[in-house]
Amino acid sequence: MLLNFHDYRAAAKRRLPRFLFDYIDRGTEDETGPRRHRSDLDAISLLPEMLTGHDQRDLTTTVFGRTLALPVAVAPTALAGLVAYDGELMLARGVAHAGVPYCISTQSVTTVERIREAAPNANLWFQLYVWRNRDLTRGLLQRAAACGITTLVVTADTPVLPNREYNLRNGLTIPLKPGGRVALDLLRHPGWTLSVLLGYLRQGGMPVYGHYPEAFRNSVARAQLASEVAIDHRLNWDDIASLRRDWAGELVVKGLLSVADARRAADLGAEGVVVSTHGARNLDSAITTARALPPIVDAVGGRVTVLADSCVQRGSDVVKYMGLGARAVLLGRAPLWGLAAGGEPGLRGVLSMLGNEIDLTLALLGRARLEKLETCIAREGDAQ
Ligand code: GLV
Repeated sequence: MLLNFHDYRAAAKRRLPRFLFDYIDRGTEDETGPRRHRSDLDAISLLPEMLTGHDQRDLTTTVFGRTLALPVAVAPTALAGLVAYDGELMLARGVAHAGVPYCISTQSVTTVERIREAAPNANLWFQLYVWRNRDLTRGLLQRAAACGITTLVVTADTPVLPNREYNLRNGLTIPLKPGGRVALDLLRHPGWTLSVLLGYLRQGGMPVYGHYPEAFRNSVARAQLASEVAIDHRLNWDDIASLRRDWAGELVVKGLLSVADARRAADLGAEGVVVSTHGARNLDSAITTARALPPIVDAVGGRVTVLADSCVQRGSDVVKYMGLGARAVLLGRAPLWGLAAGGEPGLRGVLSMLGNEIDLTLALLGRARLEKLETCIAREGDAQ
């Protein structure tokens, strides 16, 4: 029975080849980040009010002028299309059903045009990795805008590839090279290999990053050849200013952890920031989202929409990040575990499970809506 995050994760672990499961599941280096996120989230206690007499909860919230049915969005995750065949189309259809946004990744397998076509009414956002070649980057933005996307999420926290040793040990490369270790991994996970890998092979070849220009698609793993579309190490605030000029919709800077950086984003006219450690998968020793969030909300919460993510497993974690000041919370791993465990119905299952958990948490807190949640966070001496 798939009743919670852990059940879905375990089902995904059985289904996915190890190189893919680890890629999604793990952190970096000694993996203190995921543990510290969990211990900080778990250490937050909530202070319920009793006998408040509500029989229904309103879980809606407004982000960038649109109402979300739940205070969550599907985070941009590279290679979601490998988790299930056409996984990114499932994400788009699943969020349209759930009434929440899905942020398409620059590194998705399927292109923004196909994703839009699959879900014309979905609330789609687009995540940008700024490529070294700015003309190619601008071309990508034009494609997103032409698909009616107005919310652009620029990733600021990945100037270099993080140290994920398990990817090397597991033989993960894009495009996949099914030699040695990977071949064994594929044989051990025949369900995935037959439906996902063979599905793409039948459609014309190994899955690759769909947005990368044709000339670079087959070389995205080869640093030399792919330098035009490598993530630009020199990305800086001037780039954010120039994106601000180029992008007419909402600009969101993702991966900020300091008050100074959040202020800078707000000063440059960003509409949003995402307080995020990239799912605790970049700088292993980075401050946790739970610690970084409150001072950032105090500093810029009146000027920009503050979103948060990293290491959410339960609806109560969503309520906690909101109690620390986030307007809504991005989910990376949970939707992917849903996709792996059961395709689009699995994804819908995860979103509705988290919605129920948020609802239950609010009910037990004695709250009818997602407002003033900061007063639910228990502080020293509160219960006296
Ligand atoms: C890509 O964004 C990754 O975290 O692997």
